[in-house]
Amino acid sequence: KILILDFGSQYTQLIARRVREANVYCELHPYDVTPAFIKDFAPQGIILSGGPASVIEKETPRAPQIVFELGIPVLGICYGMQTMAAQLGGRVENAVIREFGYAEIASTEHGVLLRDIVDHTDPDGRNILDVWMSHGDKVEALPPGFQVMAFNAAAPIAAMADKTRHFYGIQFHPEVTHTLQGRAIIARFVHEICNLGHDWNMPDYVEESIGRIRANVGNDQVILGLSGGVDSSVAAALIHRAIGDQLTCVFVDNGLLRAHEARQVMGTFANHLAVKVIHVDASRIFFDRLKGVADPEDKRRIIGREFVEIFQAESAKITDVRWLAQGTIYPDVIESAGGKTKKANTIKSHHNVGGLPETLHLKLLEPLRELFKDEVRELGLALGLPREMVFRHPFPGPGLGVRILGEVKYEYAELLRQADQIFIEELQHSGWYEKTSQAFAVFLPVKSVGVMGDGRTYDYVIALRAVETQDFMTANWAELPYSLLGKVSNRIINEIRGINRVVYDISGKPPATIEWE
Ligand code: XMP
Repeated sequence: KILILDFGSQYTQLIARRVREANVYCELHPYDVTPAFIKDFAPQGIILSGGPASVIEKETPRAPQIVFELGIPVLGICYGMQTMAAQLGGRVENAVIREFGYAEIASTEHGVLLRDIVDHTDPDGRNILDVWMSHGDKVEALPPGFQVMAFNAAAPIAAMADKTRHFYGIQFHPEVTHTLQGRAIIARFVHEICNLGHDWNMPDYVEESIGRIRANVGNDQVILGLSGGVDSSVAAALIHRAIGDQLTCVFVDNGLLRAHEARQVMGTFANHLAVKVIHVDASRIFFDRLKGVADPEDKRRIIGREFVEIFQAESAKITDVRWLAQGTIYPDVIESAGGKTKKANTIKSHHNVGGLPETLHLKLLEPLRELFKDEVRELGLALGLPREMVFRHPFPGPGLGVRILGEVKYEYAELLRQADQIFIEELQHSGWYEKTSQAFAVFLPVKSVGVMGDGRTYDYVIALRAVETQDFMTANWAELPYSLLGKVSNRIINEIRGINRVVYDISGKPPATIEWE
C-alpha cells in the first residue's frame, strides 16, 4: 500500500484517486504524522504531495525524516519534490520565471519513472511530455546521488531521480488530467518502482469488508438512518449483505422529500433487497415545527434536531442495539481531519445525522470510510442497487426545506415536488442528467402576474438550478440548451396550477452557493 503525505495542495485527493485507479490501495494523511505512525502503516511507497508553502522560508512543512530512511521508494510532487531536495542536501530557490499551466518538458535517460512515457518528440529527437505546472520555486541544485530526469527553460531540474534509493521528484502535477501521461507515470511508480500488484478491486473489497463487518459486529444489532441518498443506501446494502437481519434501517419521511421518494426507497430496500426498514412518516411533525420559521439557519437547526429526536425514539424501540451505521465516505473523513485549518466560517450548518453518536452512546460502523464517491457508486452496483439510485444527484439533508425560500408550507412543497419532477424527467430524457452534477427546482414564494387563455394569473415562481462541479466547493451553472429550458418551462407552467413563471439561475459558486438557502 501507498502512503500519501499531504502538504495542502488542492490536488492531493486526486493523487489518491489516481493511485486507486491503478488498483493499488493508498491512504492520505497530513504531512506531520508521527514516525511511529508511518512505521506502523508499513507503506511500500510514499508520495509527498504539492502544497502552497515555500521551502525557502523557515518553519514551513517538511517530510518526517523517516520517509527517507525506510528503504522504500518516494515520489515527491511539486512542493514534495522541493522539500525532498532541500532535506536531502540540494538547494531550492525562487524561480525567476514562474510557471502556471501547460508546459513542455524534455526527459533525459535517467530514472525508470519517465522512460518511454512520451507525448511527442522534438526536432532533436528528444522525448517531450506535456505537463501541468504550478510553481514559484524550483530546485536549483540536485542533492547528492540525484540526476536530472527532465528539464525545460524555466526549470532546468523539472524532474530528478536517485535510481539507487528510488527517490523521484517531479515539479509538475501528474495527478491532474491536463498532464496527459499522468496516469501512466503514477502507474509506473506504484507498479514498477514500488512493485505493487493490482490488488485493489471492488469484488475483493466487498468480500473483505463483509468479513470485517461480521468480525466487528458479532451478534450485535445495528441501526442505520437511511436517507435514500447514495452513501447511506450503499452502506445499508453492504451491511445487510454482511449481517442480514441484525441490521435495522430507519427511514424518516420528513415531508420534504422529492416526488415518490419514500415509495422508491421502501421499494428498493424493503421489497427488493429484503432489508428491515422502519418507515416513519413524520411529515406532519416537521411541518408543524417549521410553521412561521423563515430564517434558513433556524430551519436547518429545526429539521436536524427533529430528525435526531425521531431517530432516537425509533431506535429505543429496538432491543440490544450496539452500533450506529453511517455512510461516511473518504472525502468526509479527510474533510474533518483537515477541518482545524479549513472552513473558518460556517456558511451553512450541514446536517445529516450529526449529533447522533453522542446522544445514542453507540459504537460507529462506517464501512465506506475508505472509499471515494465513484468507488461507492461502483460498490453500489456490485451490490445490486439500481443504477438510478447509485447515480442520483446529491440531495441535502434538510431536503426541500432549503429549496422553499422562507417559511415552509405543505402547499409549497407539493408545488415544488411537481416542478422538480418535470425538470429531472426532461433532463433524463435529453441526456443532460448525467452531464450535470446537481439539478433541481427551487420554490420562490413571490407572486407575479401572467396571462393564461384570456385570463389574468397571479401565481408563484419556480427557479431552475443546474450546476457542473467536481467537488461541490466551487461550481459553474450548466449551459443547458435553450430548447430544453423552454420545454421544461412550458411543462411546469402548463401542468402545475399555481405556477406561472419559471426562471433559470445563472450564478456560479462562489459567489452564490448551490442551494438557495
Ligand atoms: P451549497 O449550497 O453549500 O451546497 O453550495 C454544496 C453541496 O452540499 C449539499 N448540501 C447539503 N448536504 N446536508 C447535506 O448532506 C446539508 O445540510 C446540506 N446543505 C447543502 C448541496 O445540495 C450541494 O450538493
